[in-house]
Amino acid sequence: MVILDDAALSAADRAARVWTAAEPGPINPGSLAHKAAFCRMLLDTHNPYKPSIVDWPVLDRDTRARLVALPIWNIAVQTEGKARMRVLSYAEMVDDPLLRRAVELDGFEEGRHKQVLSNLVEAYGIELAPEPEYPQPRDPQWAFMVTGFSECIDSFFAFGLFALAKRSGFFPSALVETFEPIMQEEGRHILFFANWVAWHKRNLPLWRRPVFMGKVLAVWVFLVWERIGLVRGYGGAVDDATGSAPQDNNFTLTGSKAVGAGDLSLADLFDVCLEENEKRLSGYDDRLLRPNFVPRLVRFARRFMRRPTAAASP
Ligand SMILES: [Fe+2]
Ligand SMILES: [Fe+2]
Repeated sequence: MVILDDAALSAADRAARVWTAAEPGPINPGSLAHKAAFCRMLLDTHNPYKPSIVDWPVLDRDTRARLVALPIWNIAVQTEGKARMRVLSYAEMVDDPLLRRAVELDGFEEGRHKQVLSNLVEAYGIELAPEPEYPQPRDPQWAFMVTGFSECIDSFFAFGLFALAKRSGFFPSALVETFEPIMQEEGRHILFFANWVAWHKRNLPLWRRPVFMGKVLAVWVFLVWERIGLVRGYGGAVDDATGSAPQDNNFTLTGSKAVGAGDLSLADLFDVCLEENEKRLSGYDDRLLRPNFVPRLVRFARRFMRRPTAAASP
């Protein structure tokens, strides 16, 4: 058995957060150097932790009850299972060896997220709905793009909610910290994905680019429609049947309450999300493009809201 000491763990953690391409000078989107940079970013910053070494802290009765009551476990486990299948299916279509390795690693990490969540569920005796099958998608590229853009939306808000959970002390920090590597991994995934979109588009023949952009637009329409369904609480039926309980789907709205920051306004929540998103991605080479659609939209919406309250400050 390999015993990892604290120094080795923090070195692996740091290596996952800070990365600069060896290439000097500007990196043009769509170039070979660009492809090498976003693929190497993902491969070089991989944190090799094993889900089995996660030491689940003993919780007192109330804390455990709060954790079990969080309405997220079914949807979280199933989202990771689906993401793994979708990303790995796309990897099989990729001819370029470096890009393929990077997409495979992305899929492996999704599987590992699912493993960590499953271990947590088992450790605390959380009951899950029976897990559905994760079928191979008919159009792997579409499925990869749905997962990629979904992660761009979900991770942005998850970063903020995670920071609020840390601040509120609603759950013990030993437990919250268990999710830190997963959060950072999702940050790397959306960075990788945003660069893949730009690179892929520029490497298509001119006549195929509008088709690809149409596909991007269709994915967004699908995701917005799906999320409107989720907000209304009808979401389980919108995507492939997730088998999740309806209360799962309101998590985005009730999320700040669930992490112990119930008094926060939407404006405050947006500010925390923007700040956390910036922090999470700040360690990576700034010549890589940023996933900026959601932050831009939120900054725009933020202009119509009032100033932050004192409650939002750390
Ligand atoms: Fe994931
Ligand atoms: Fe991911």
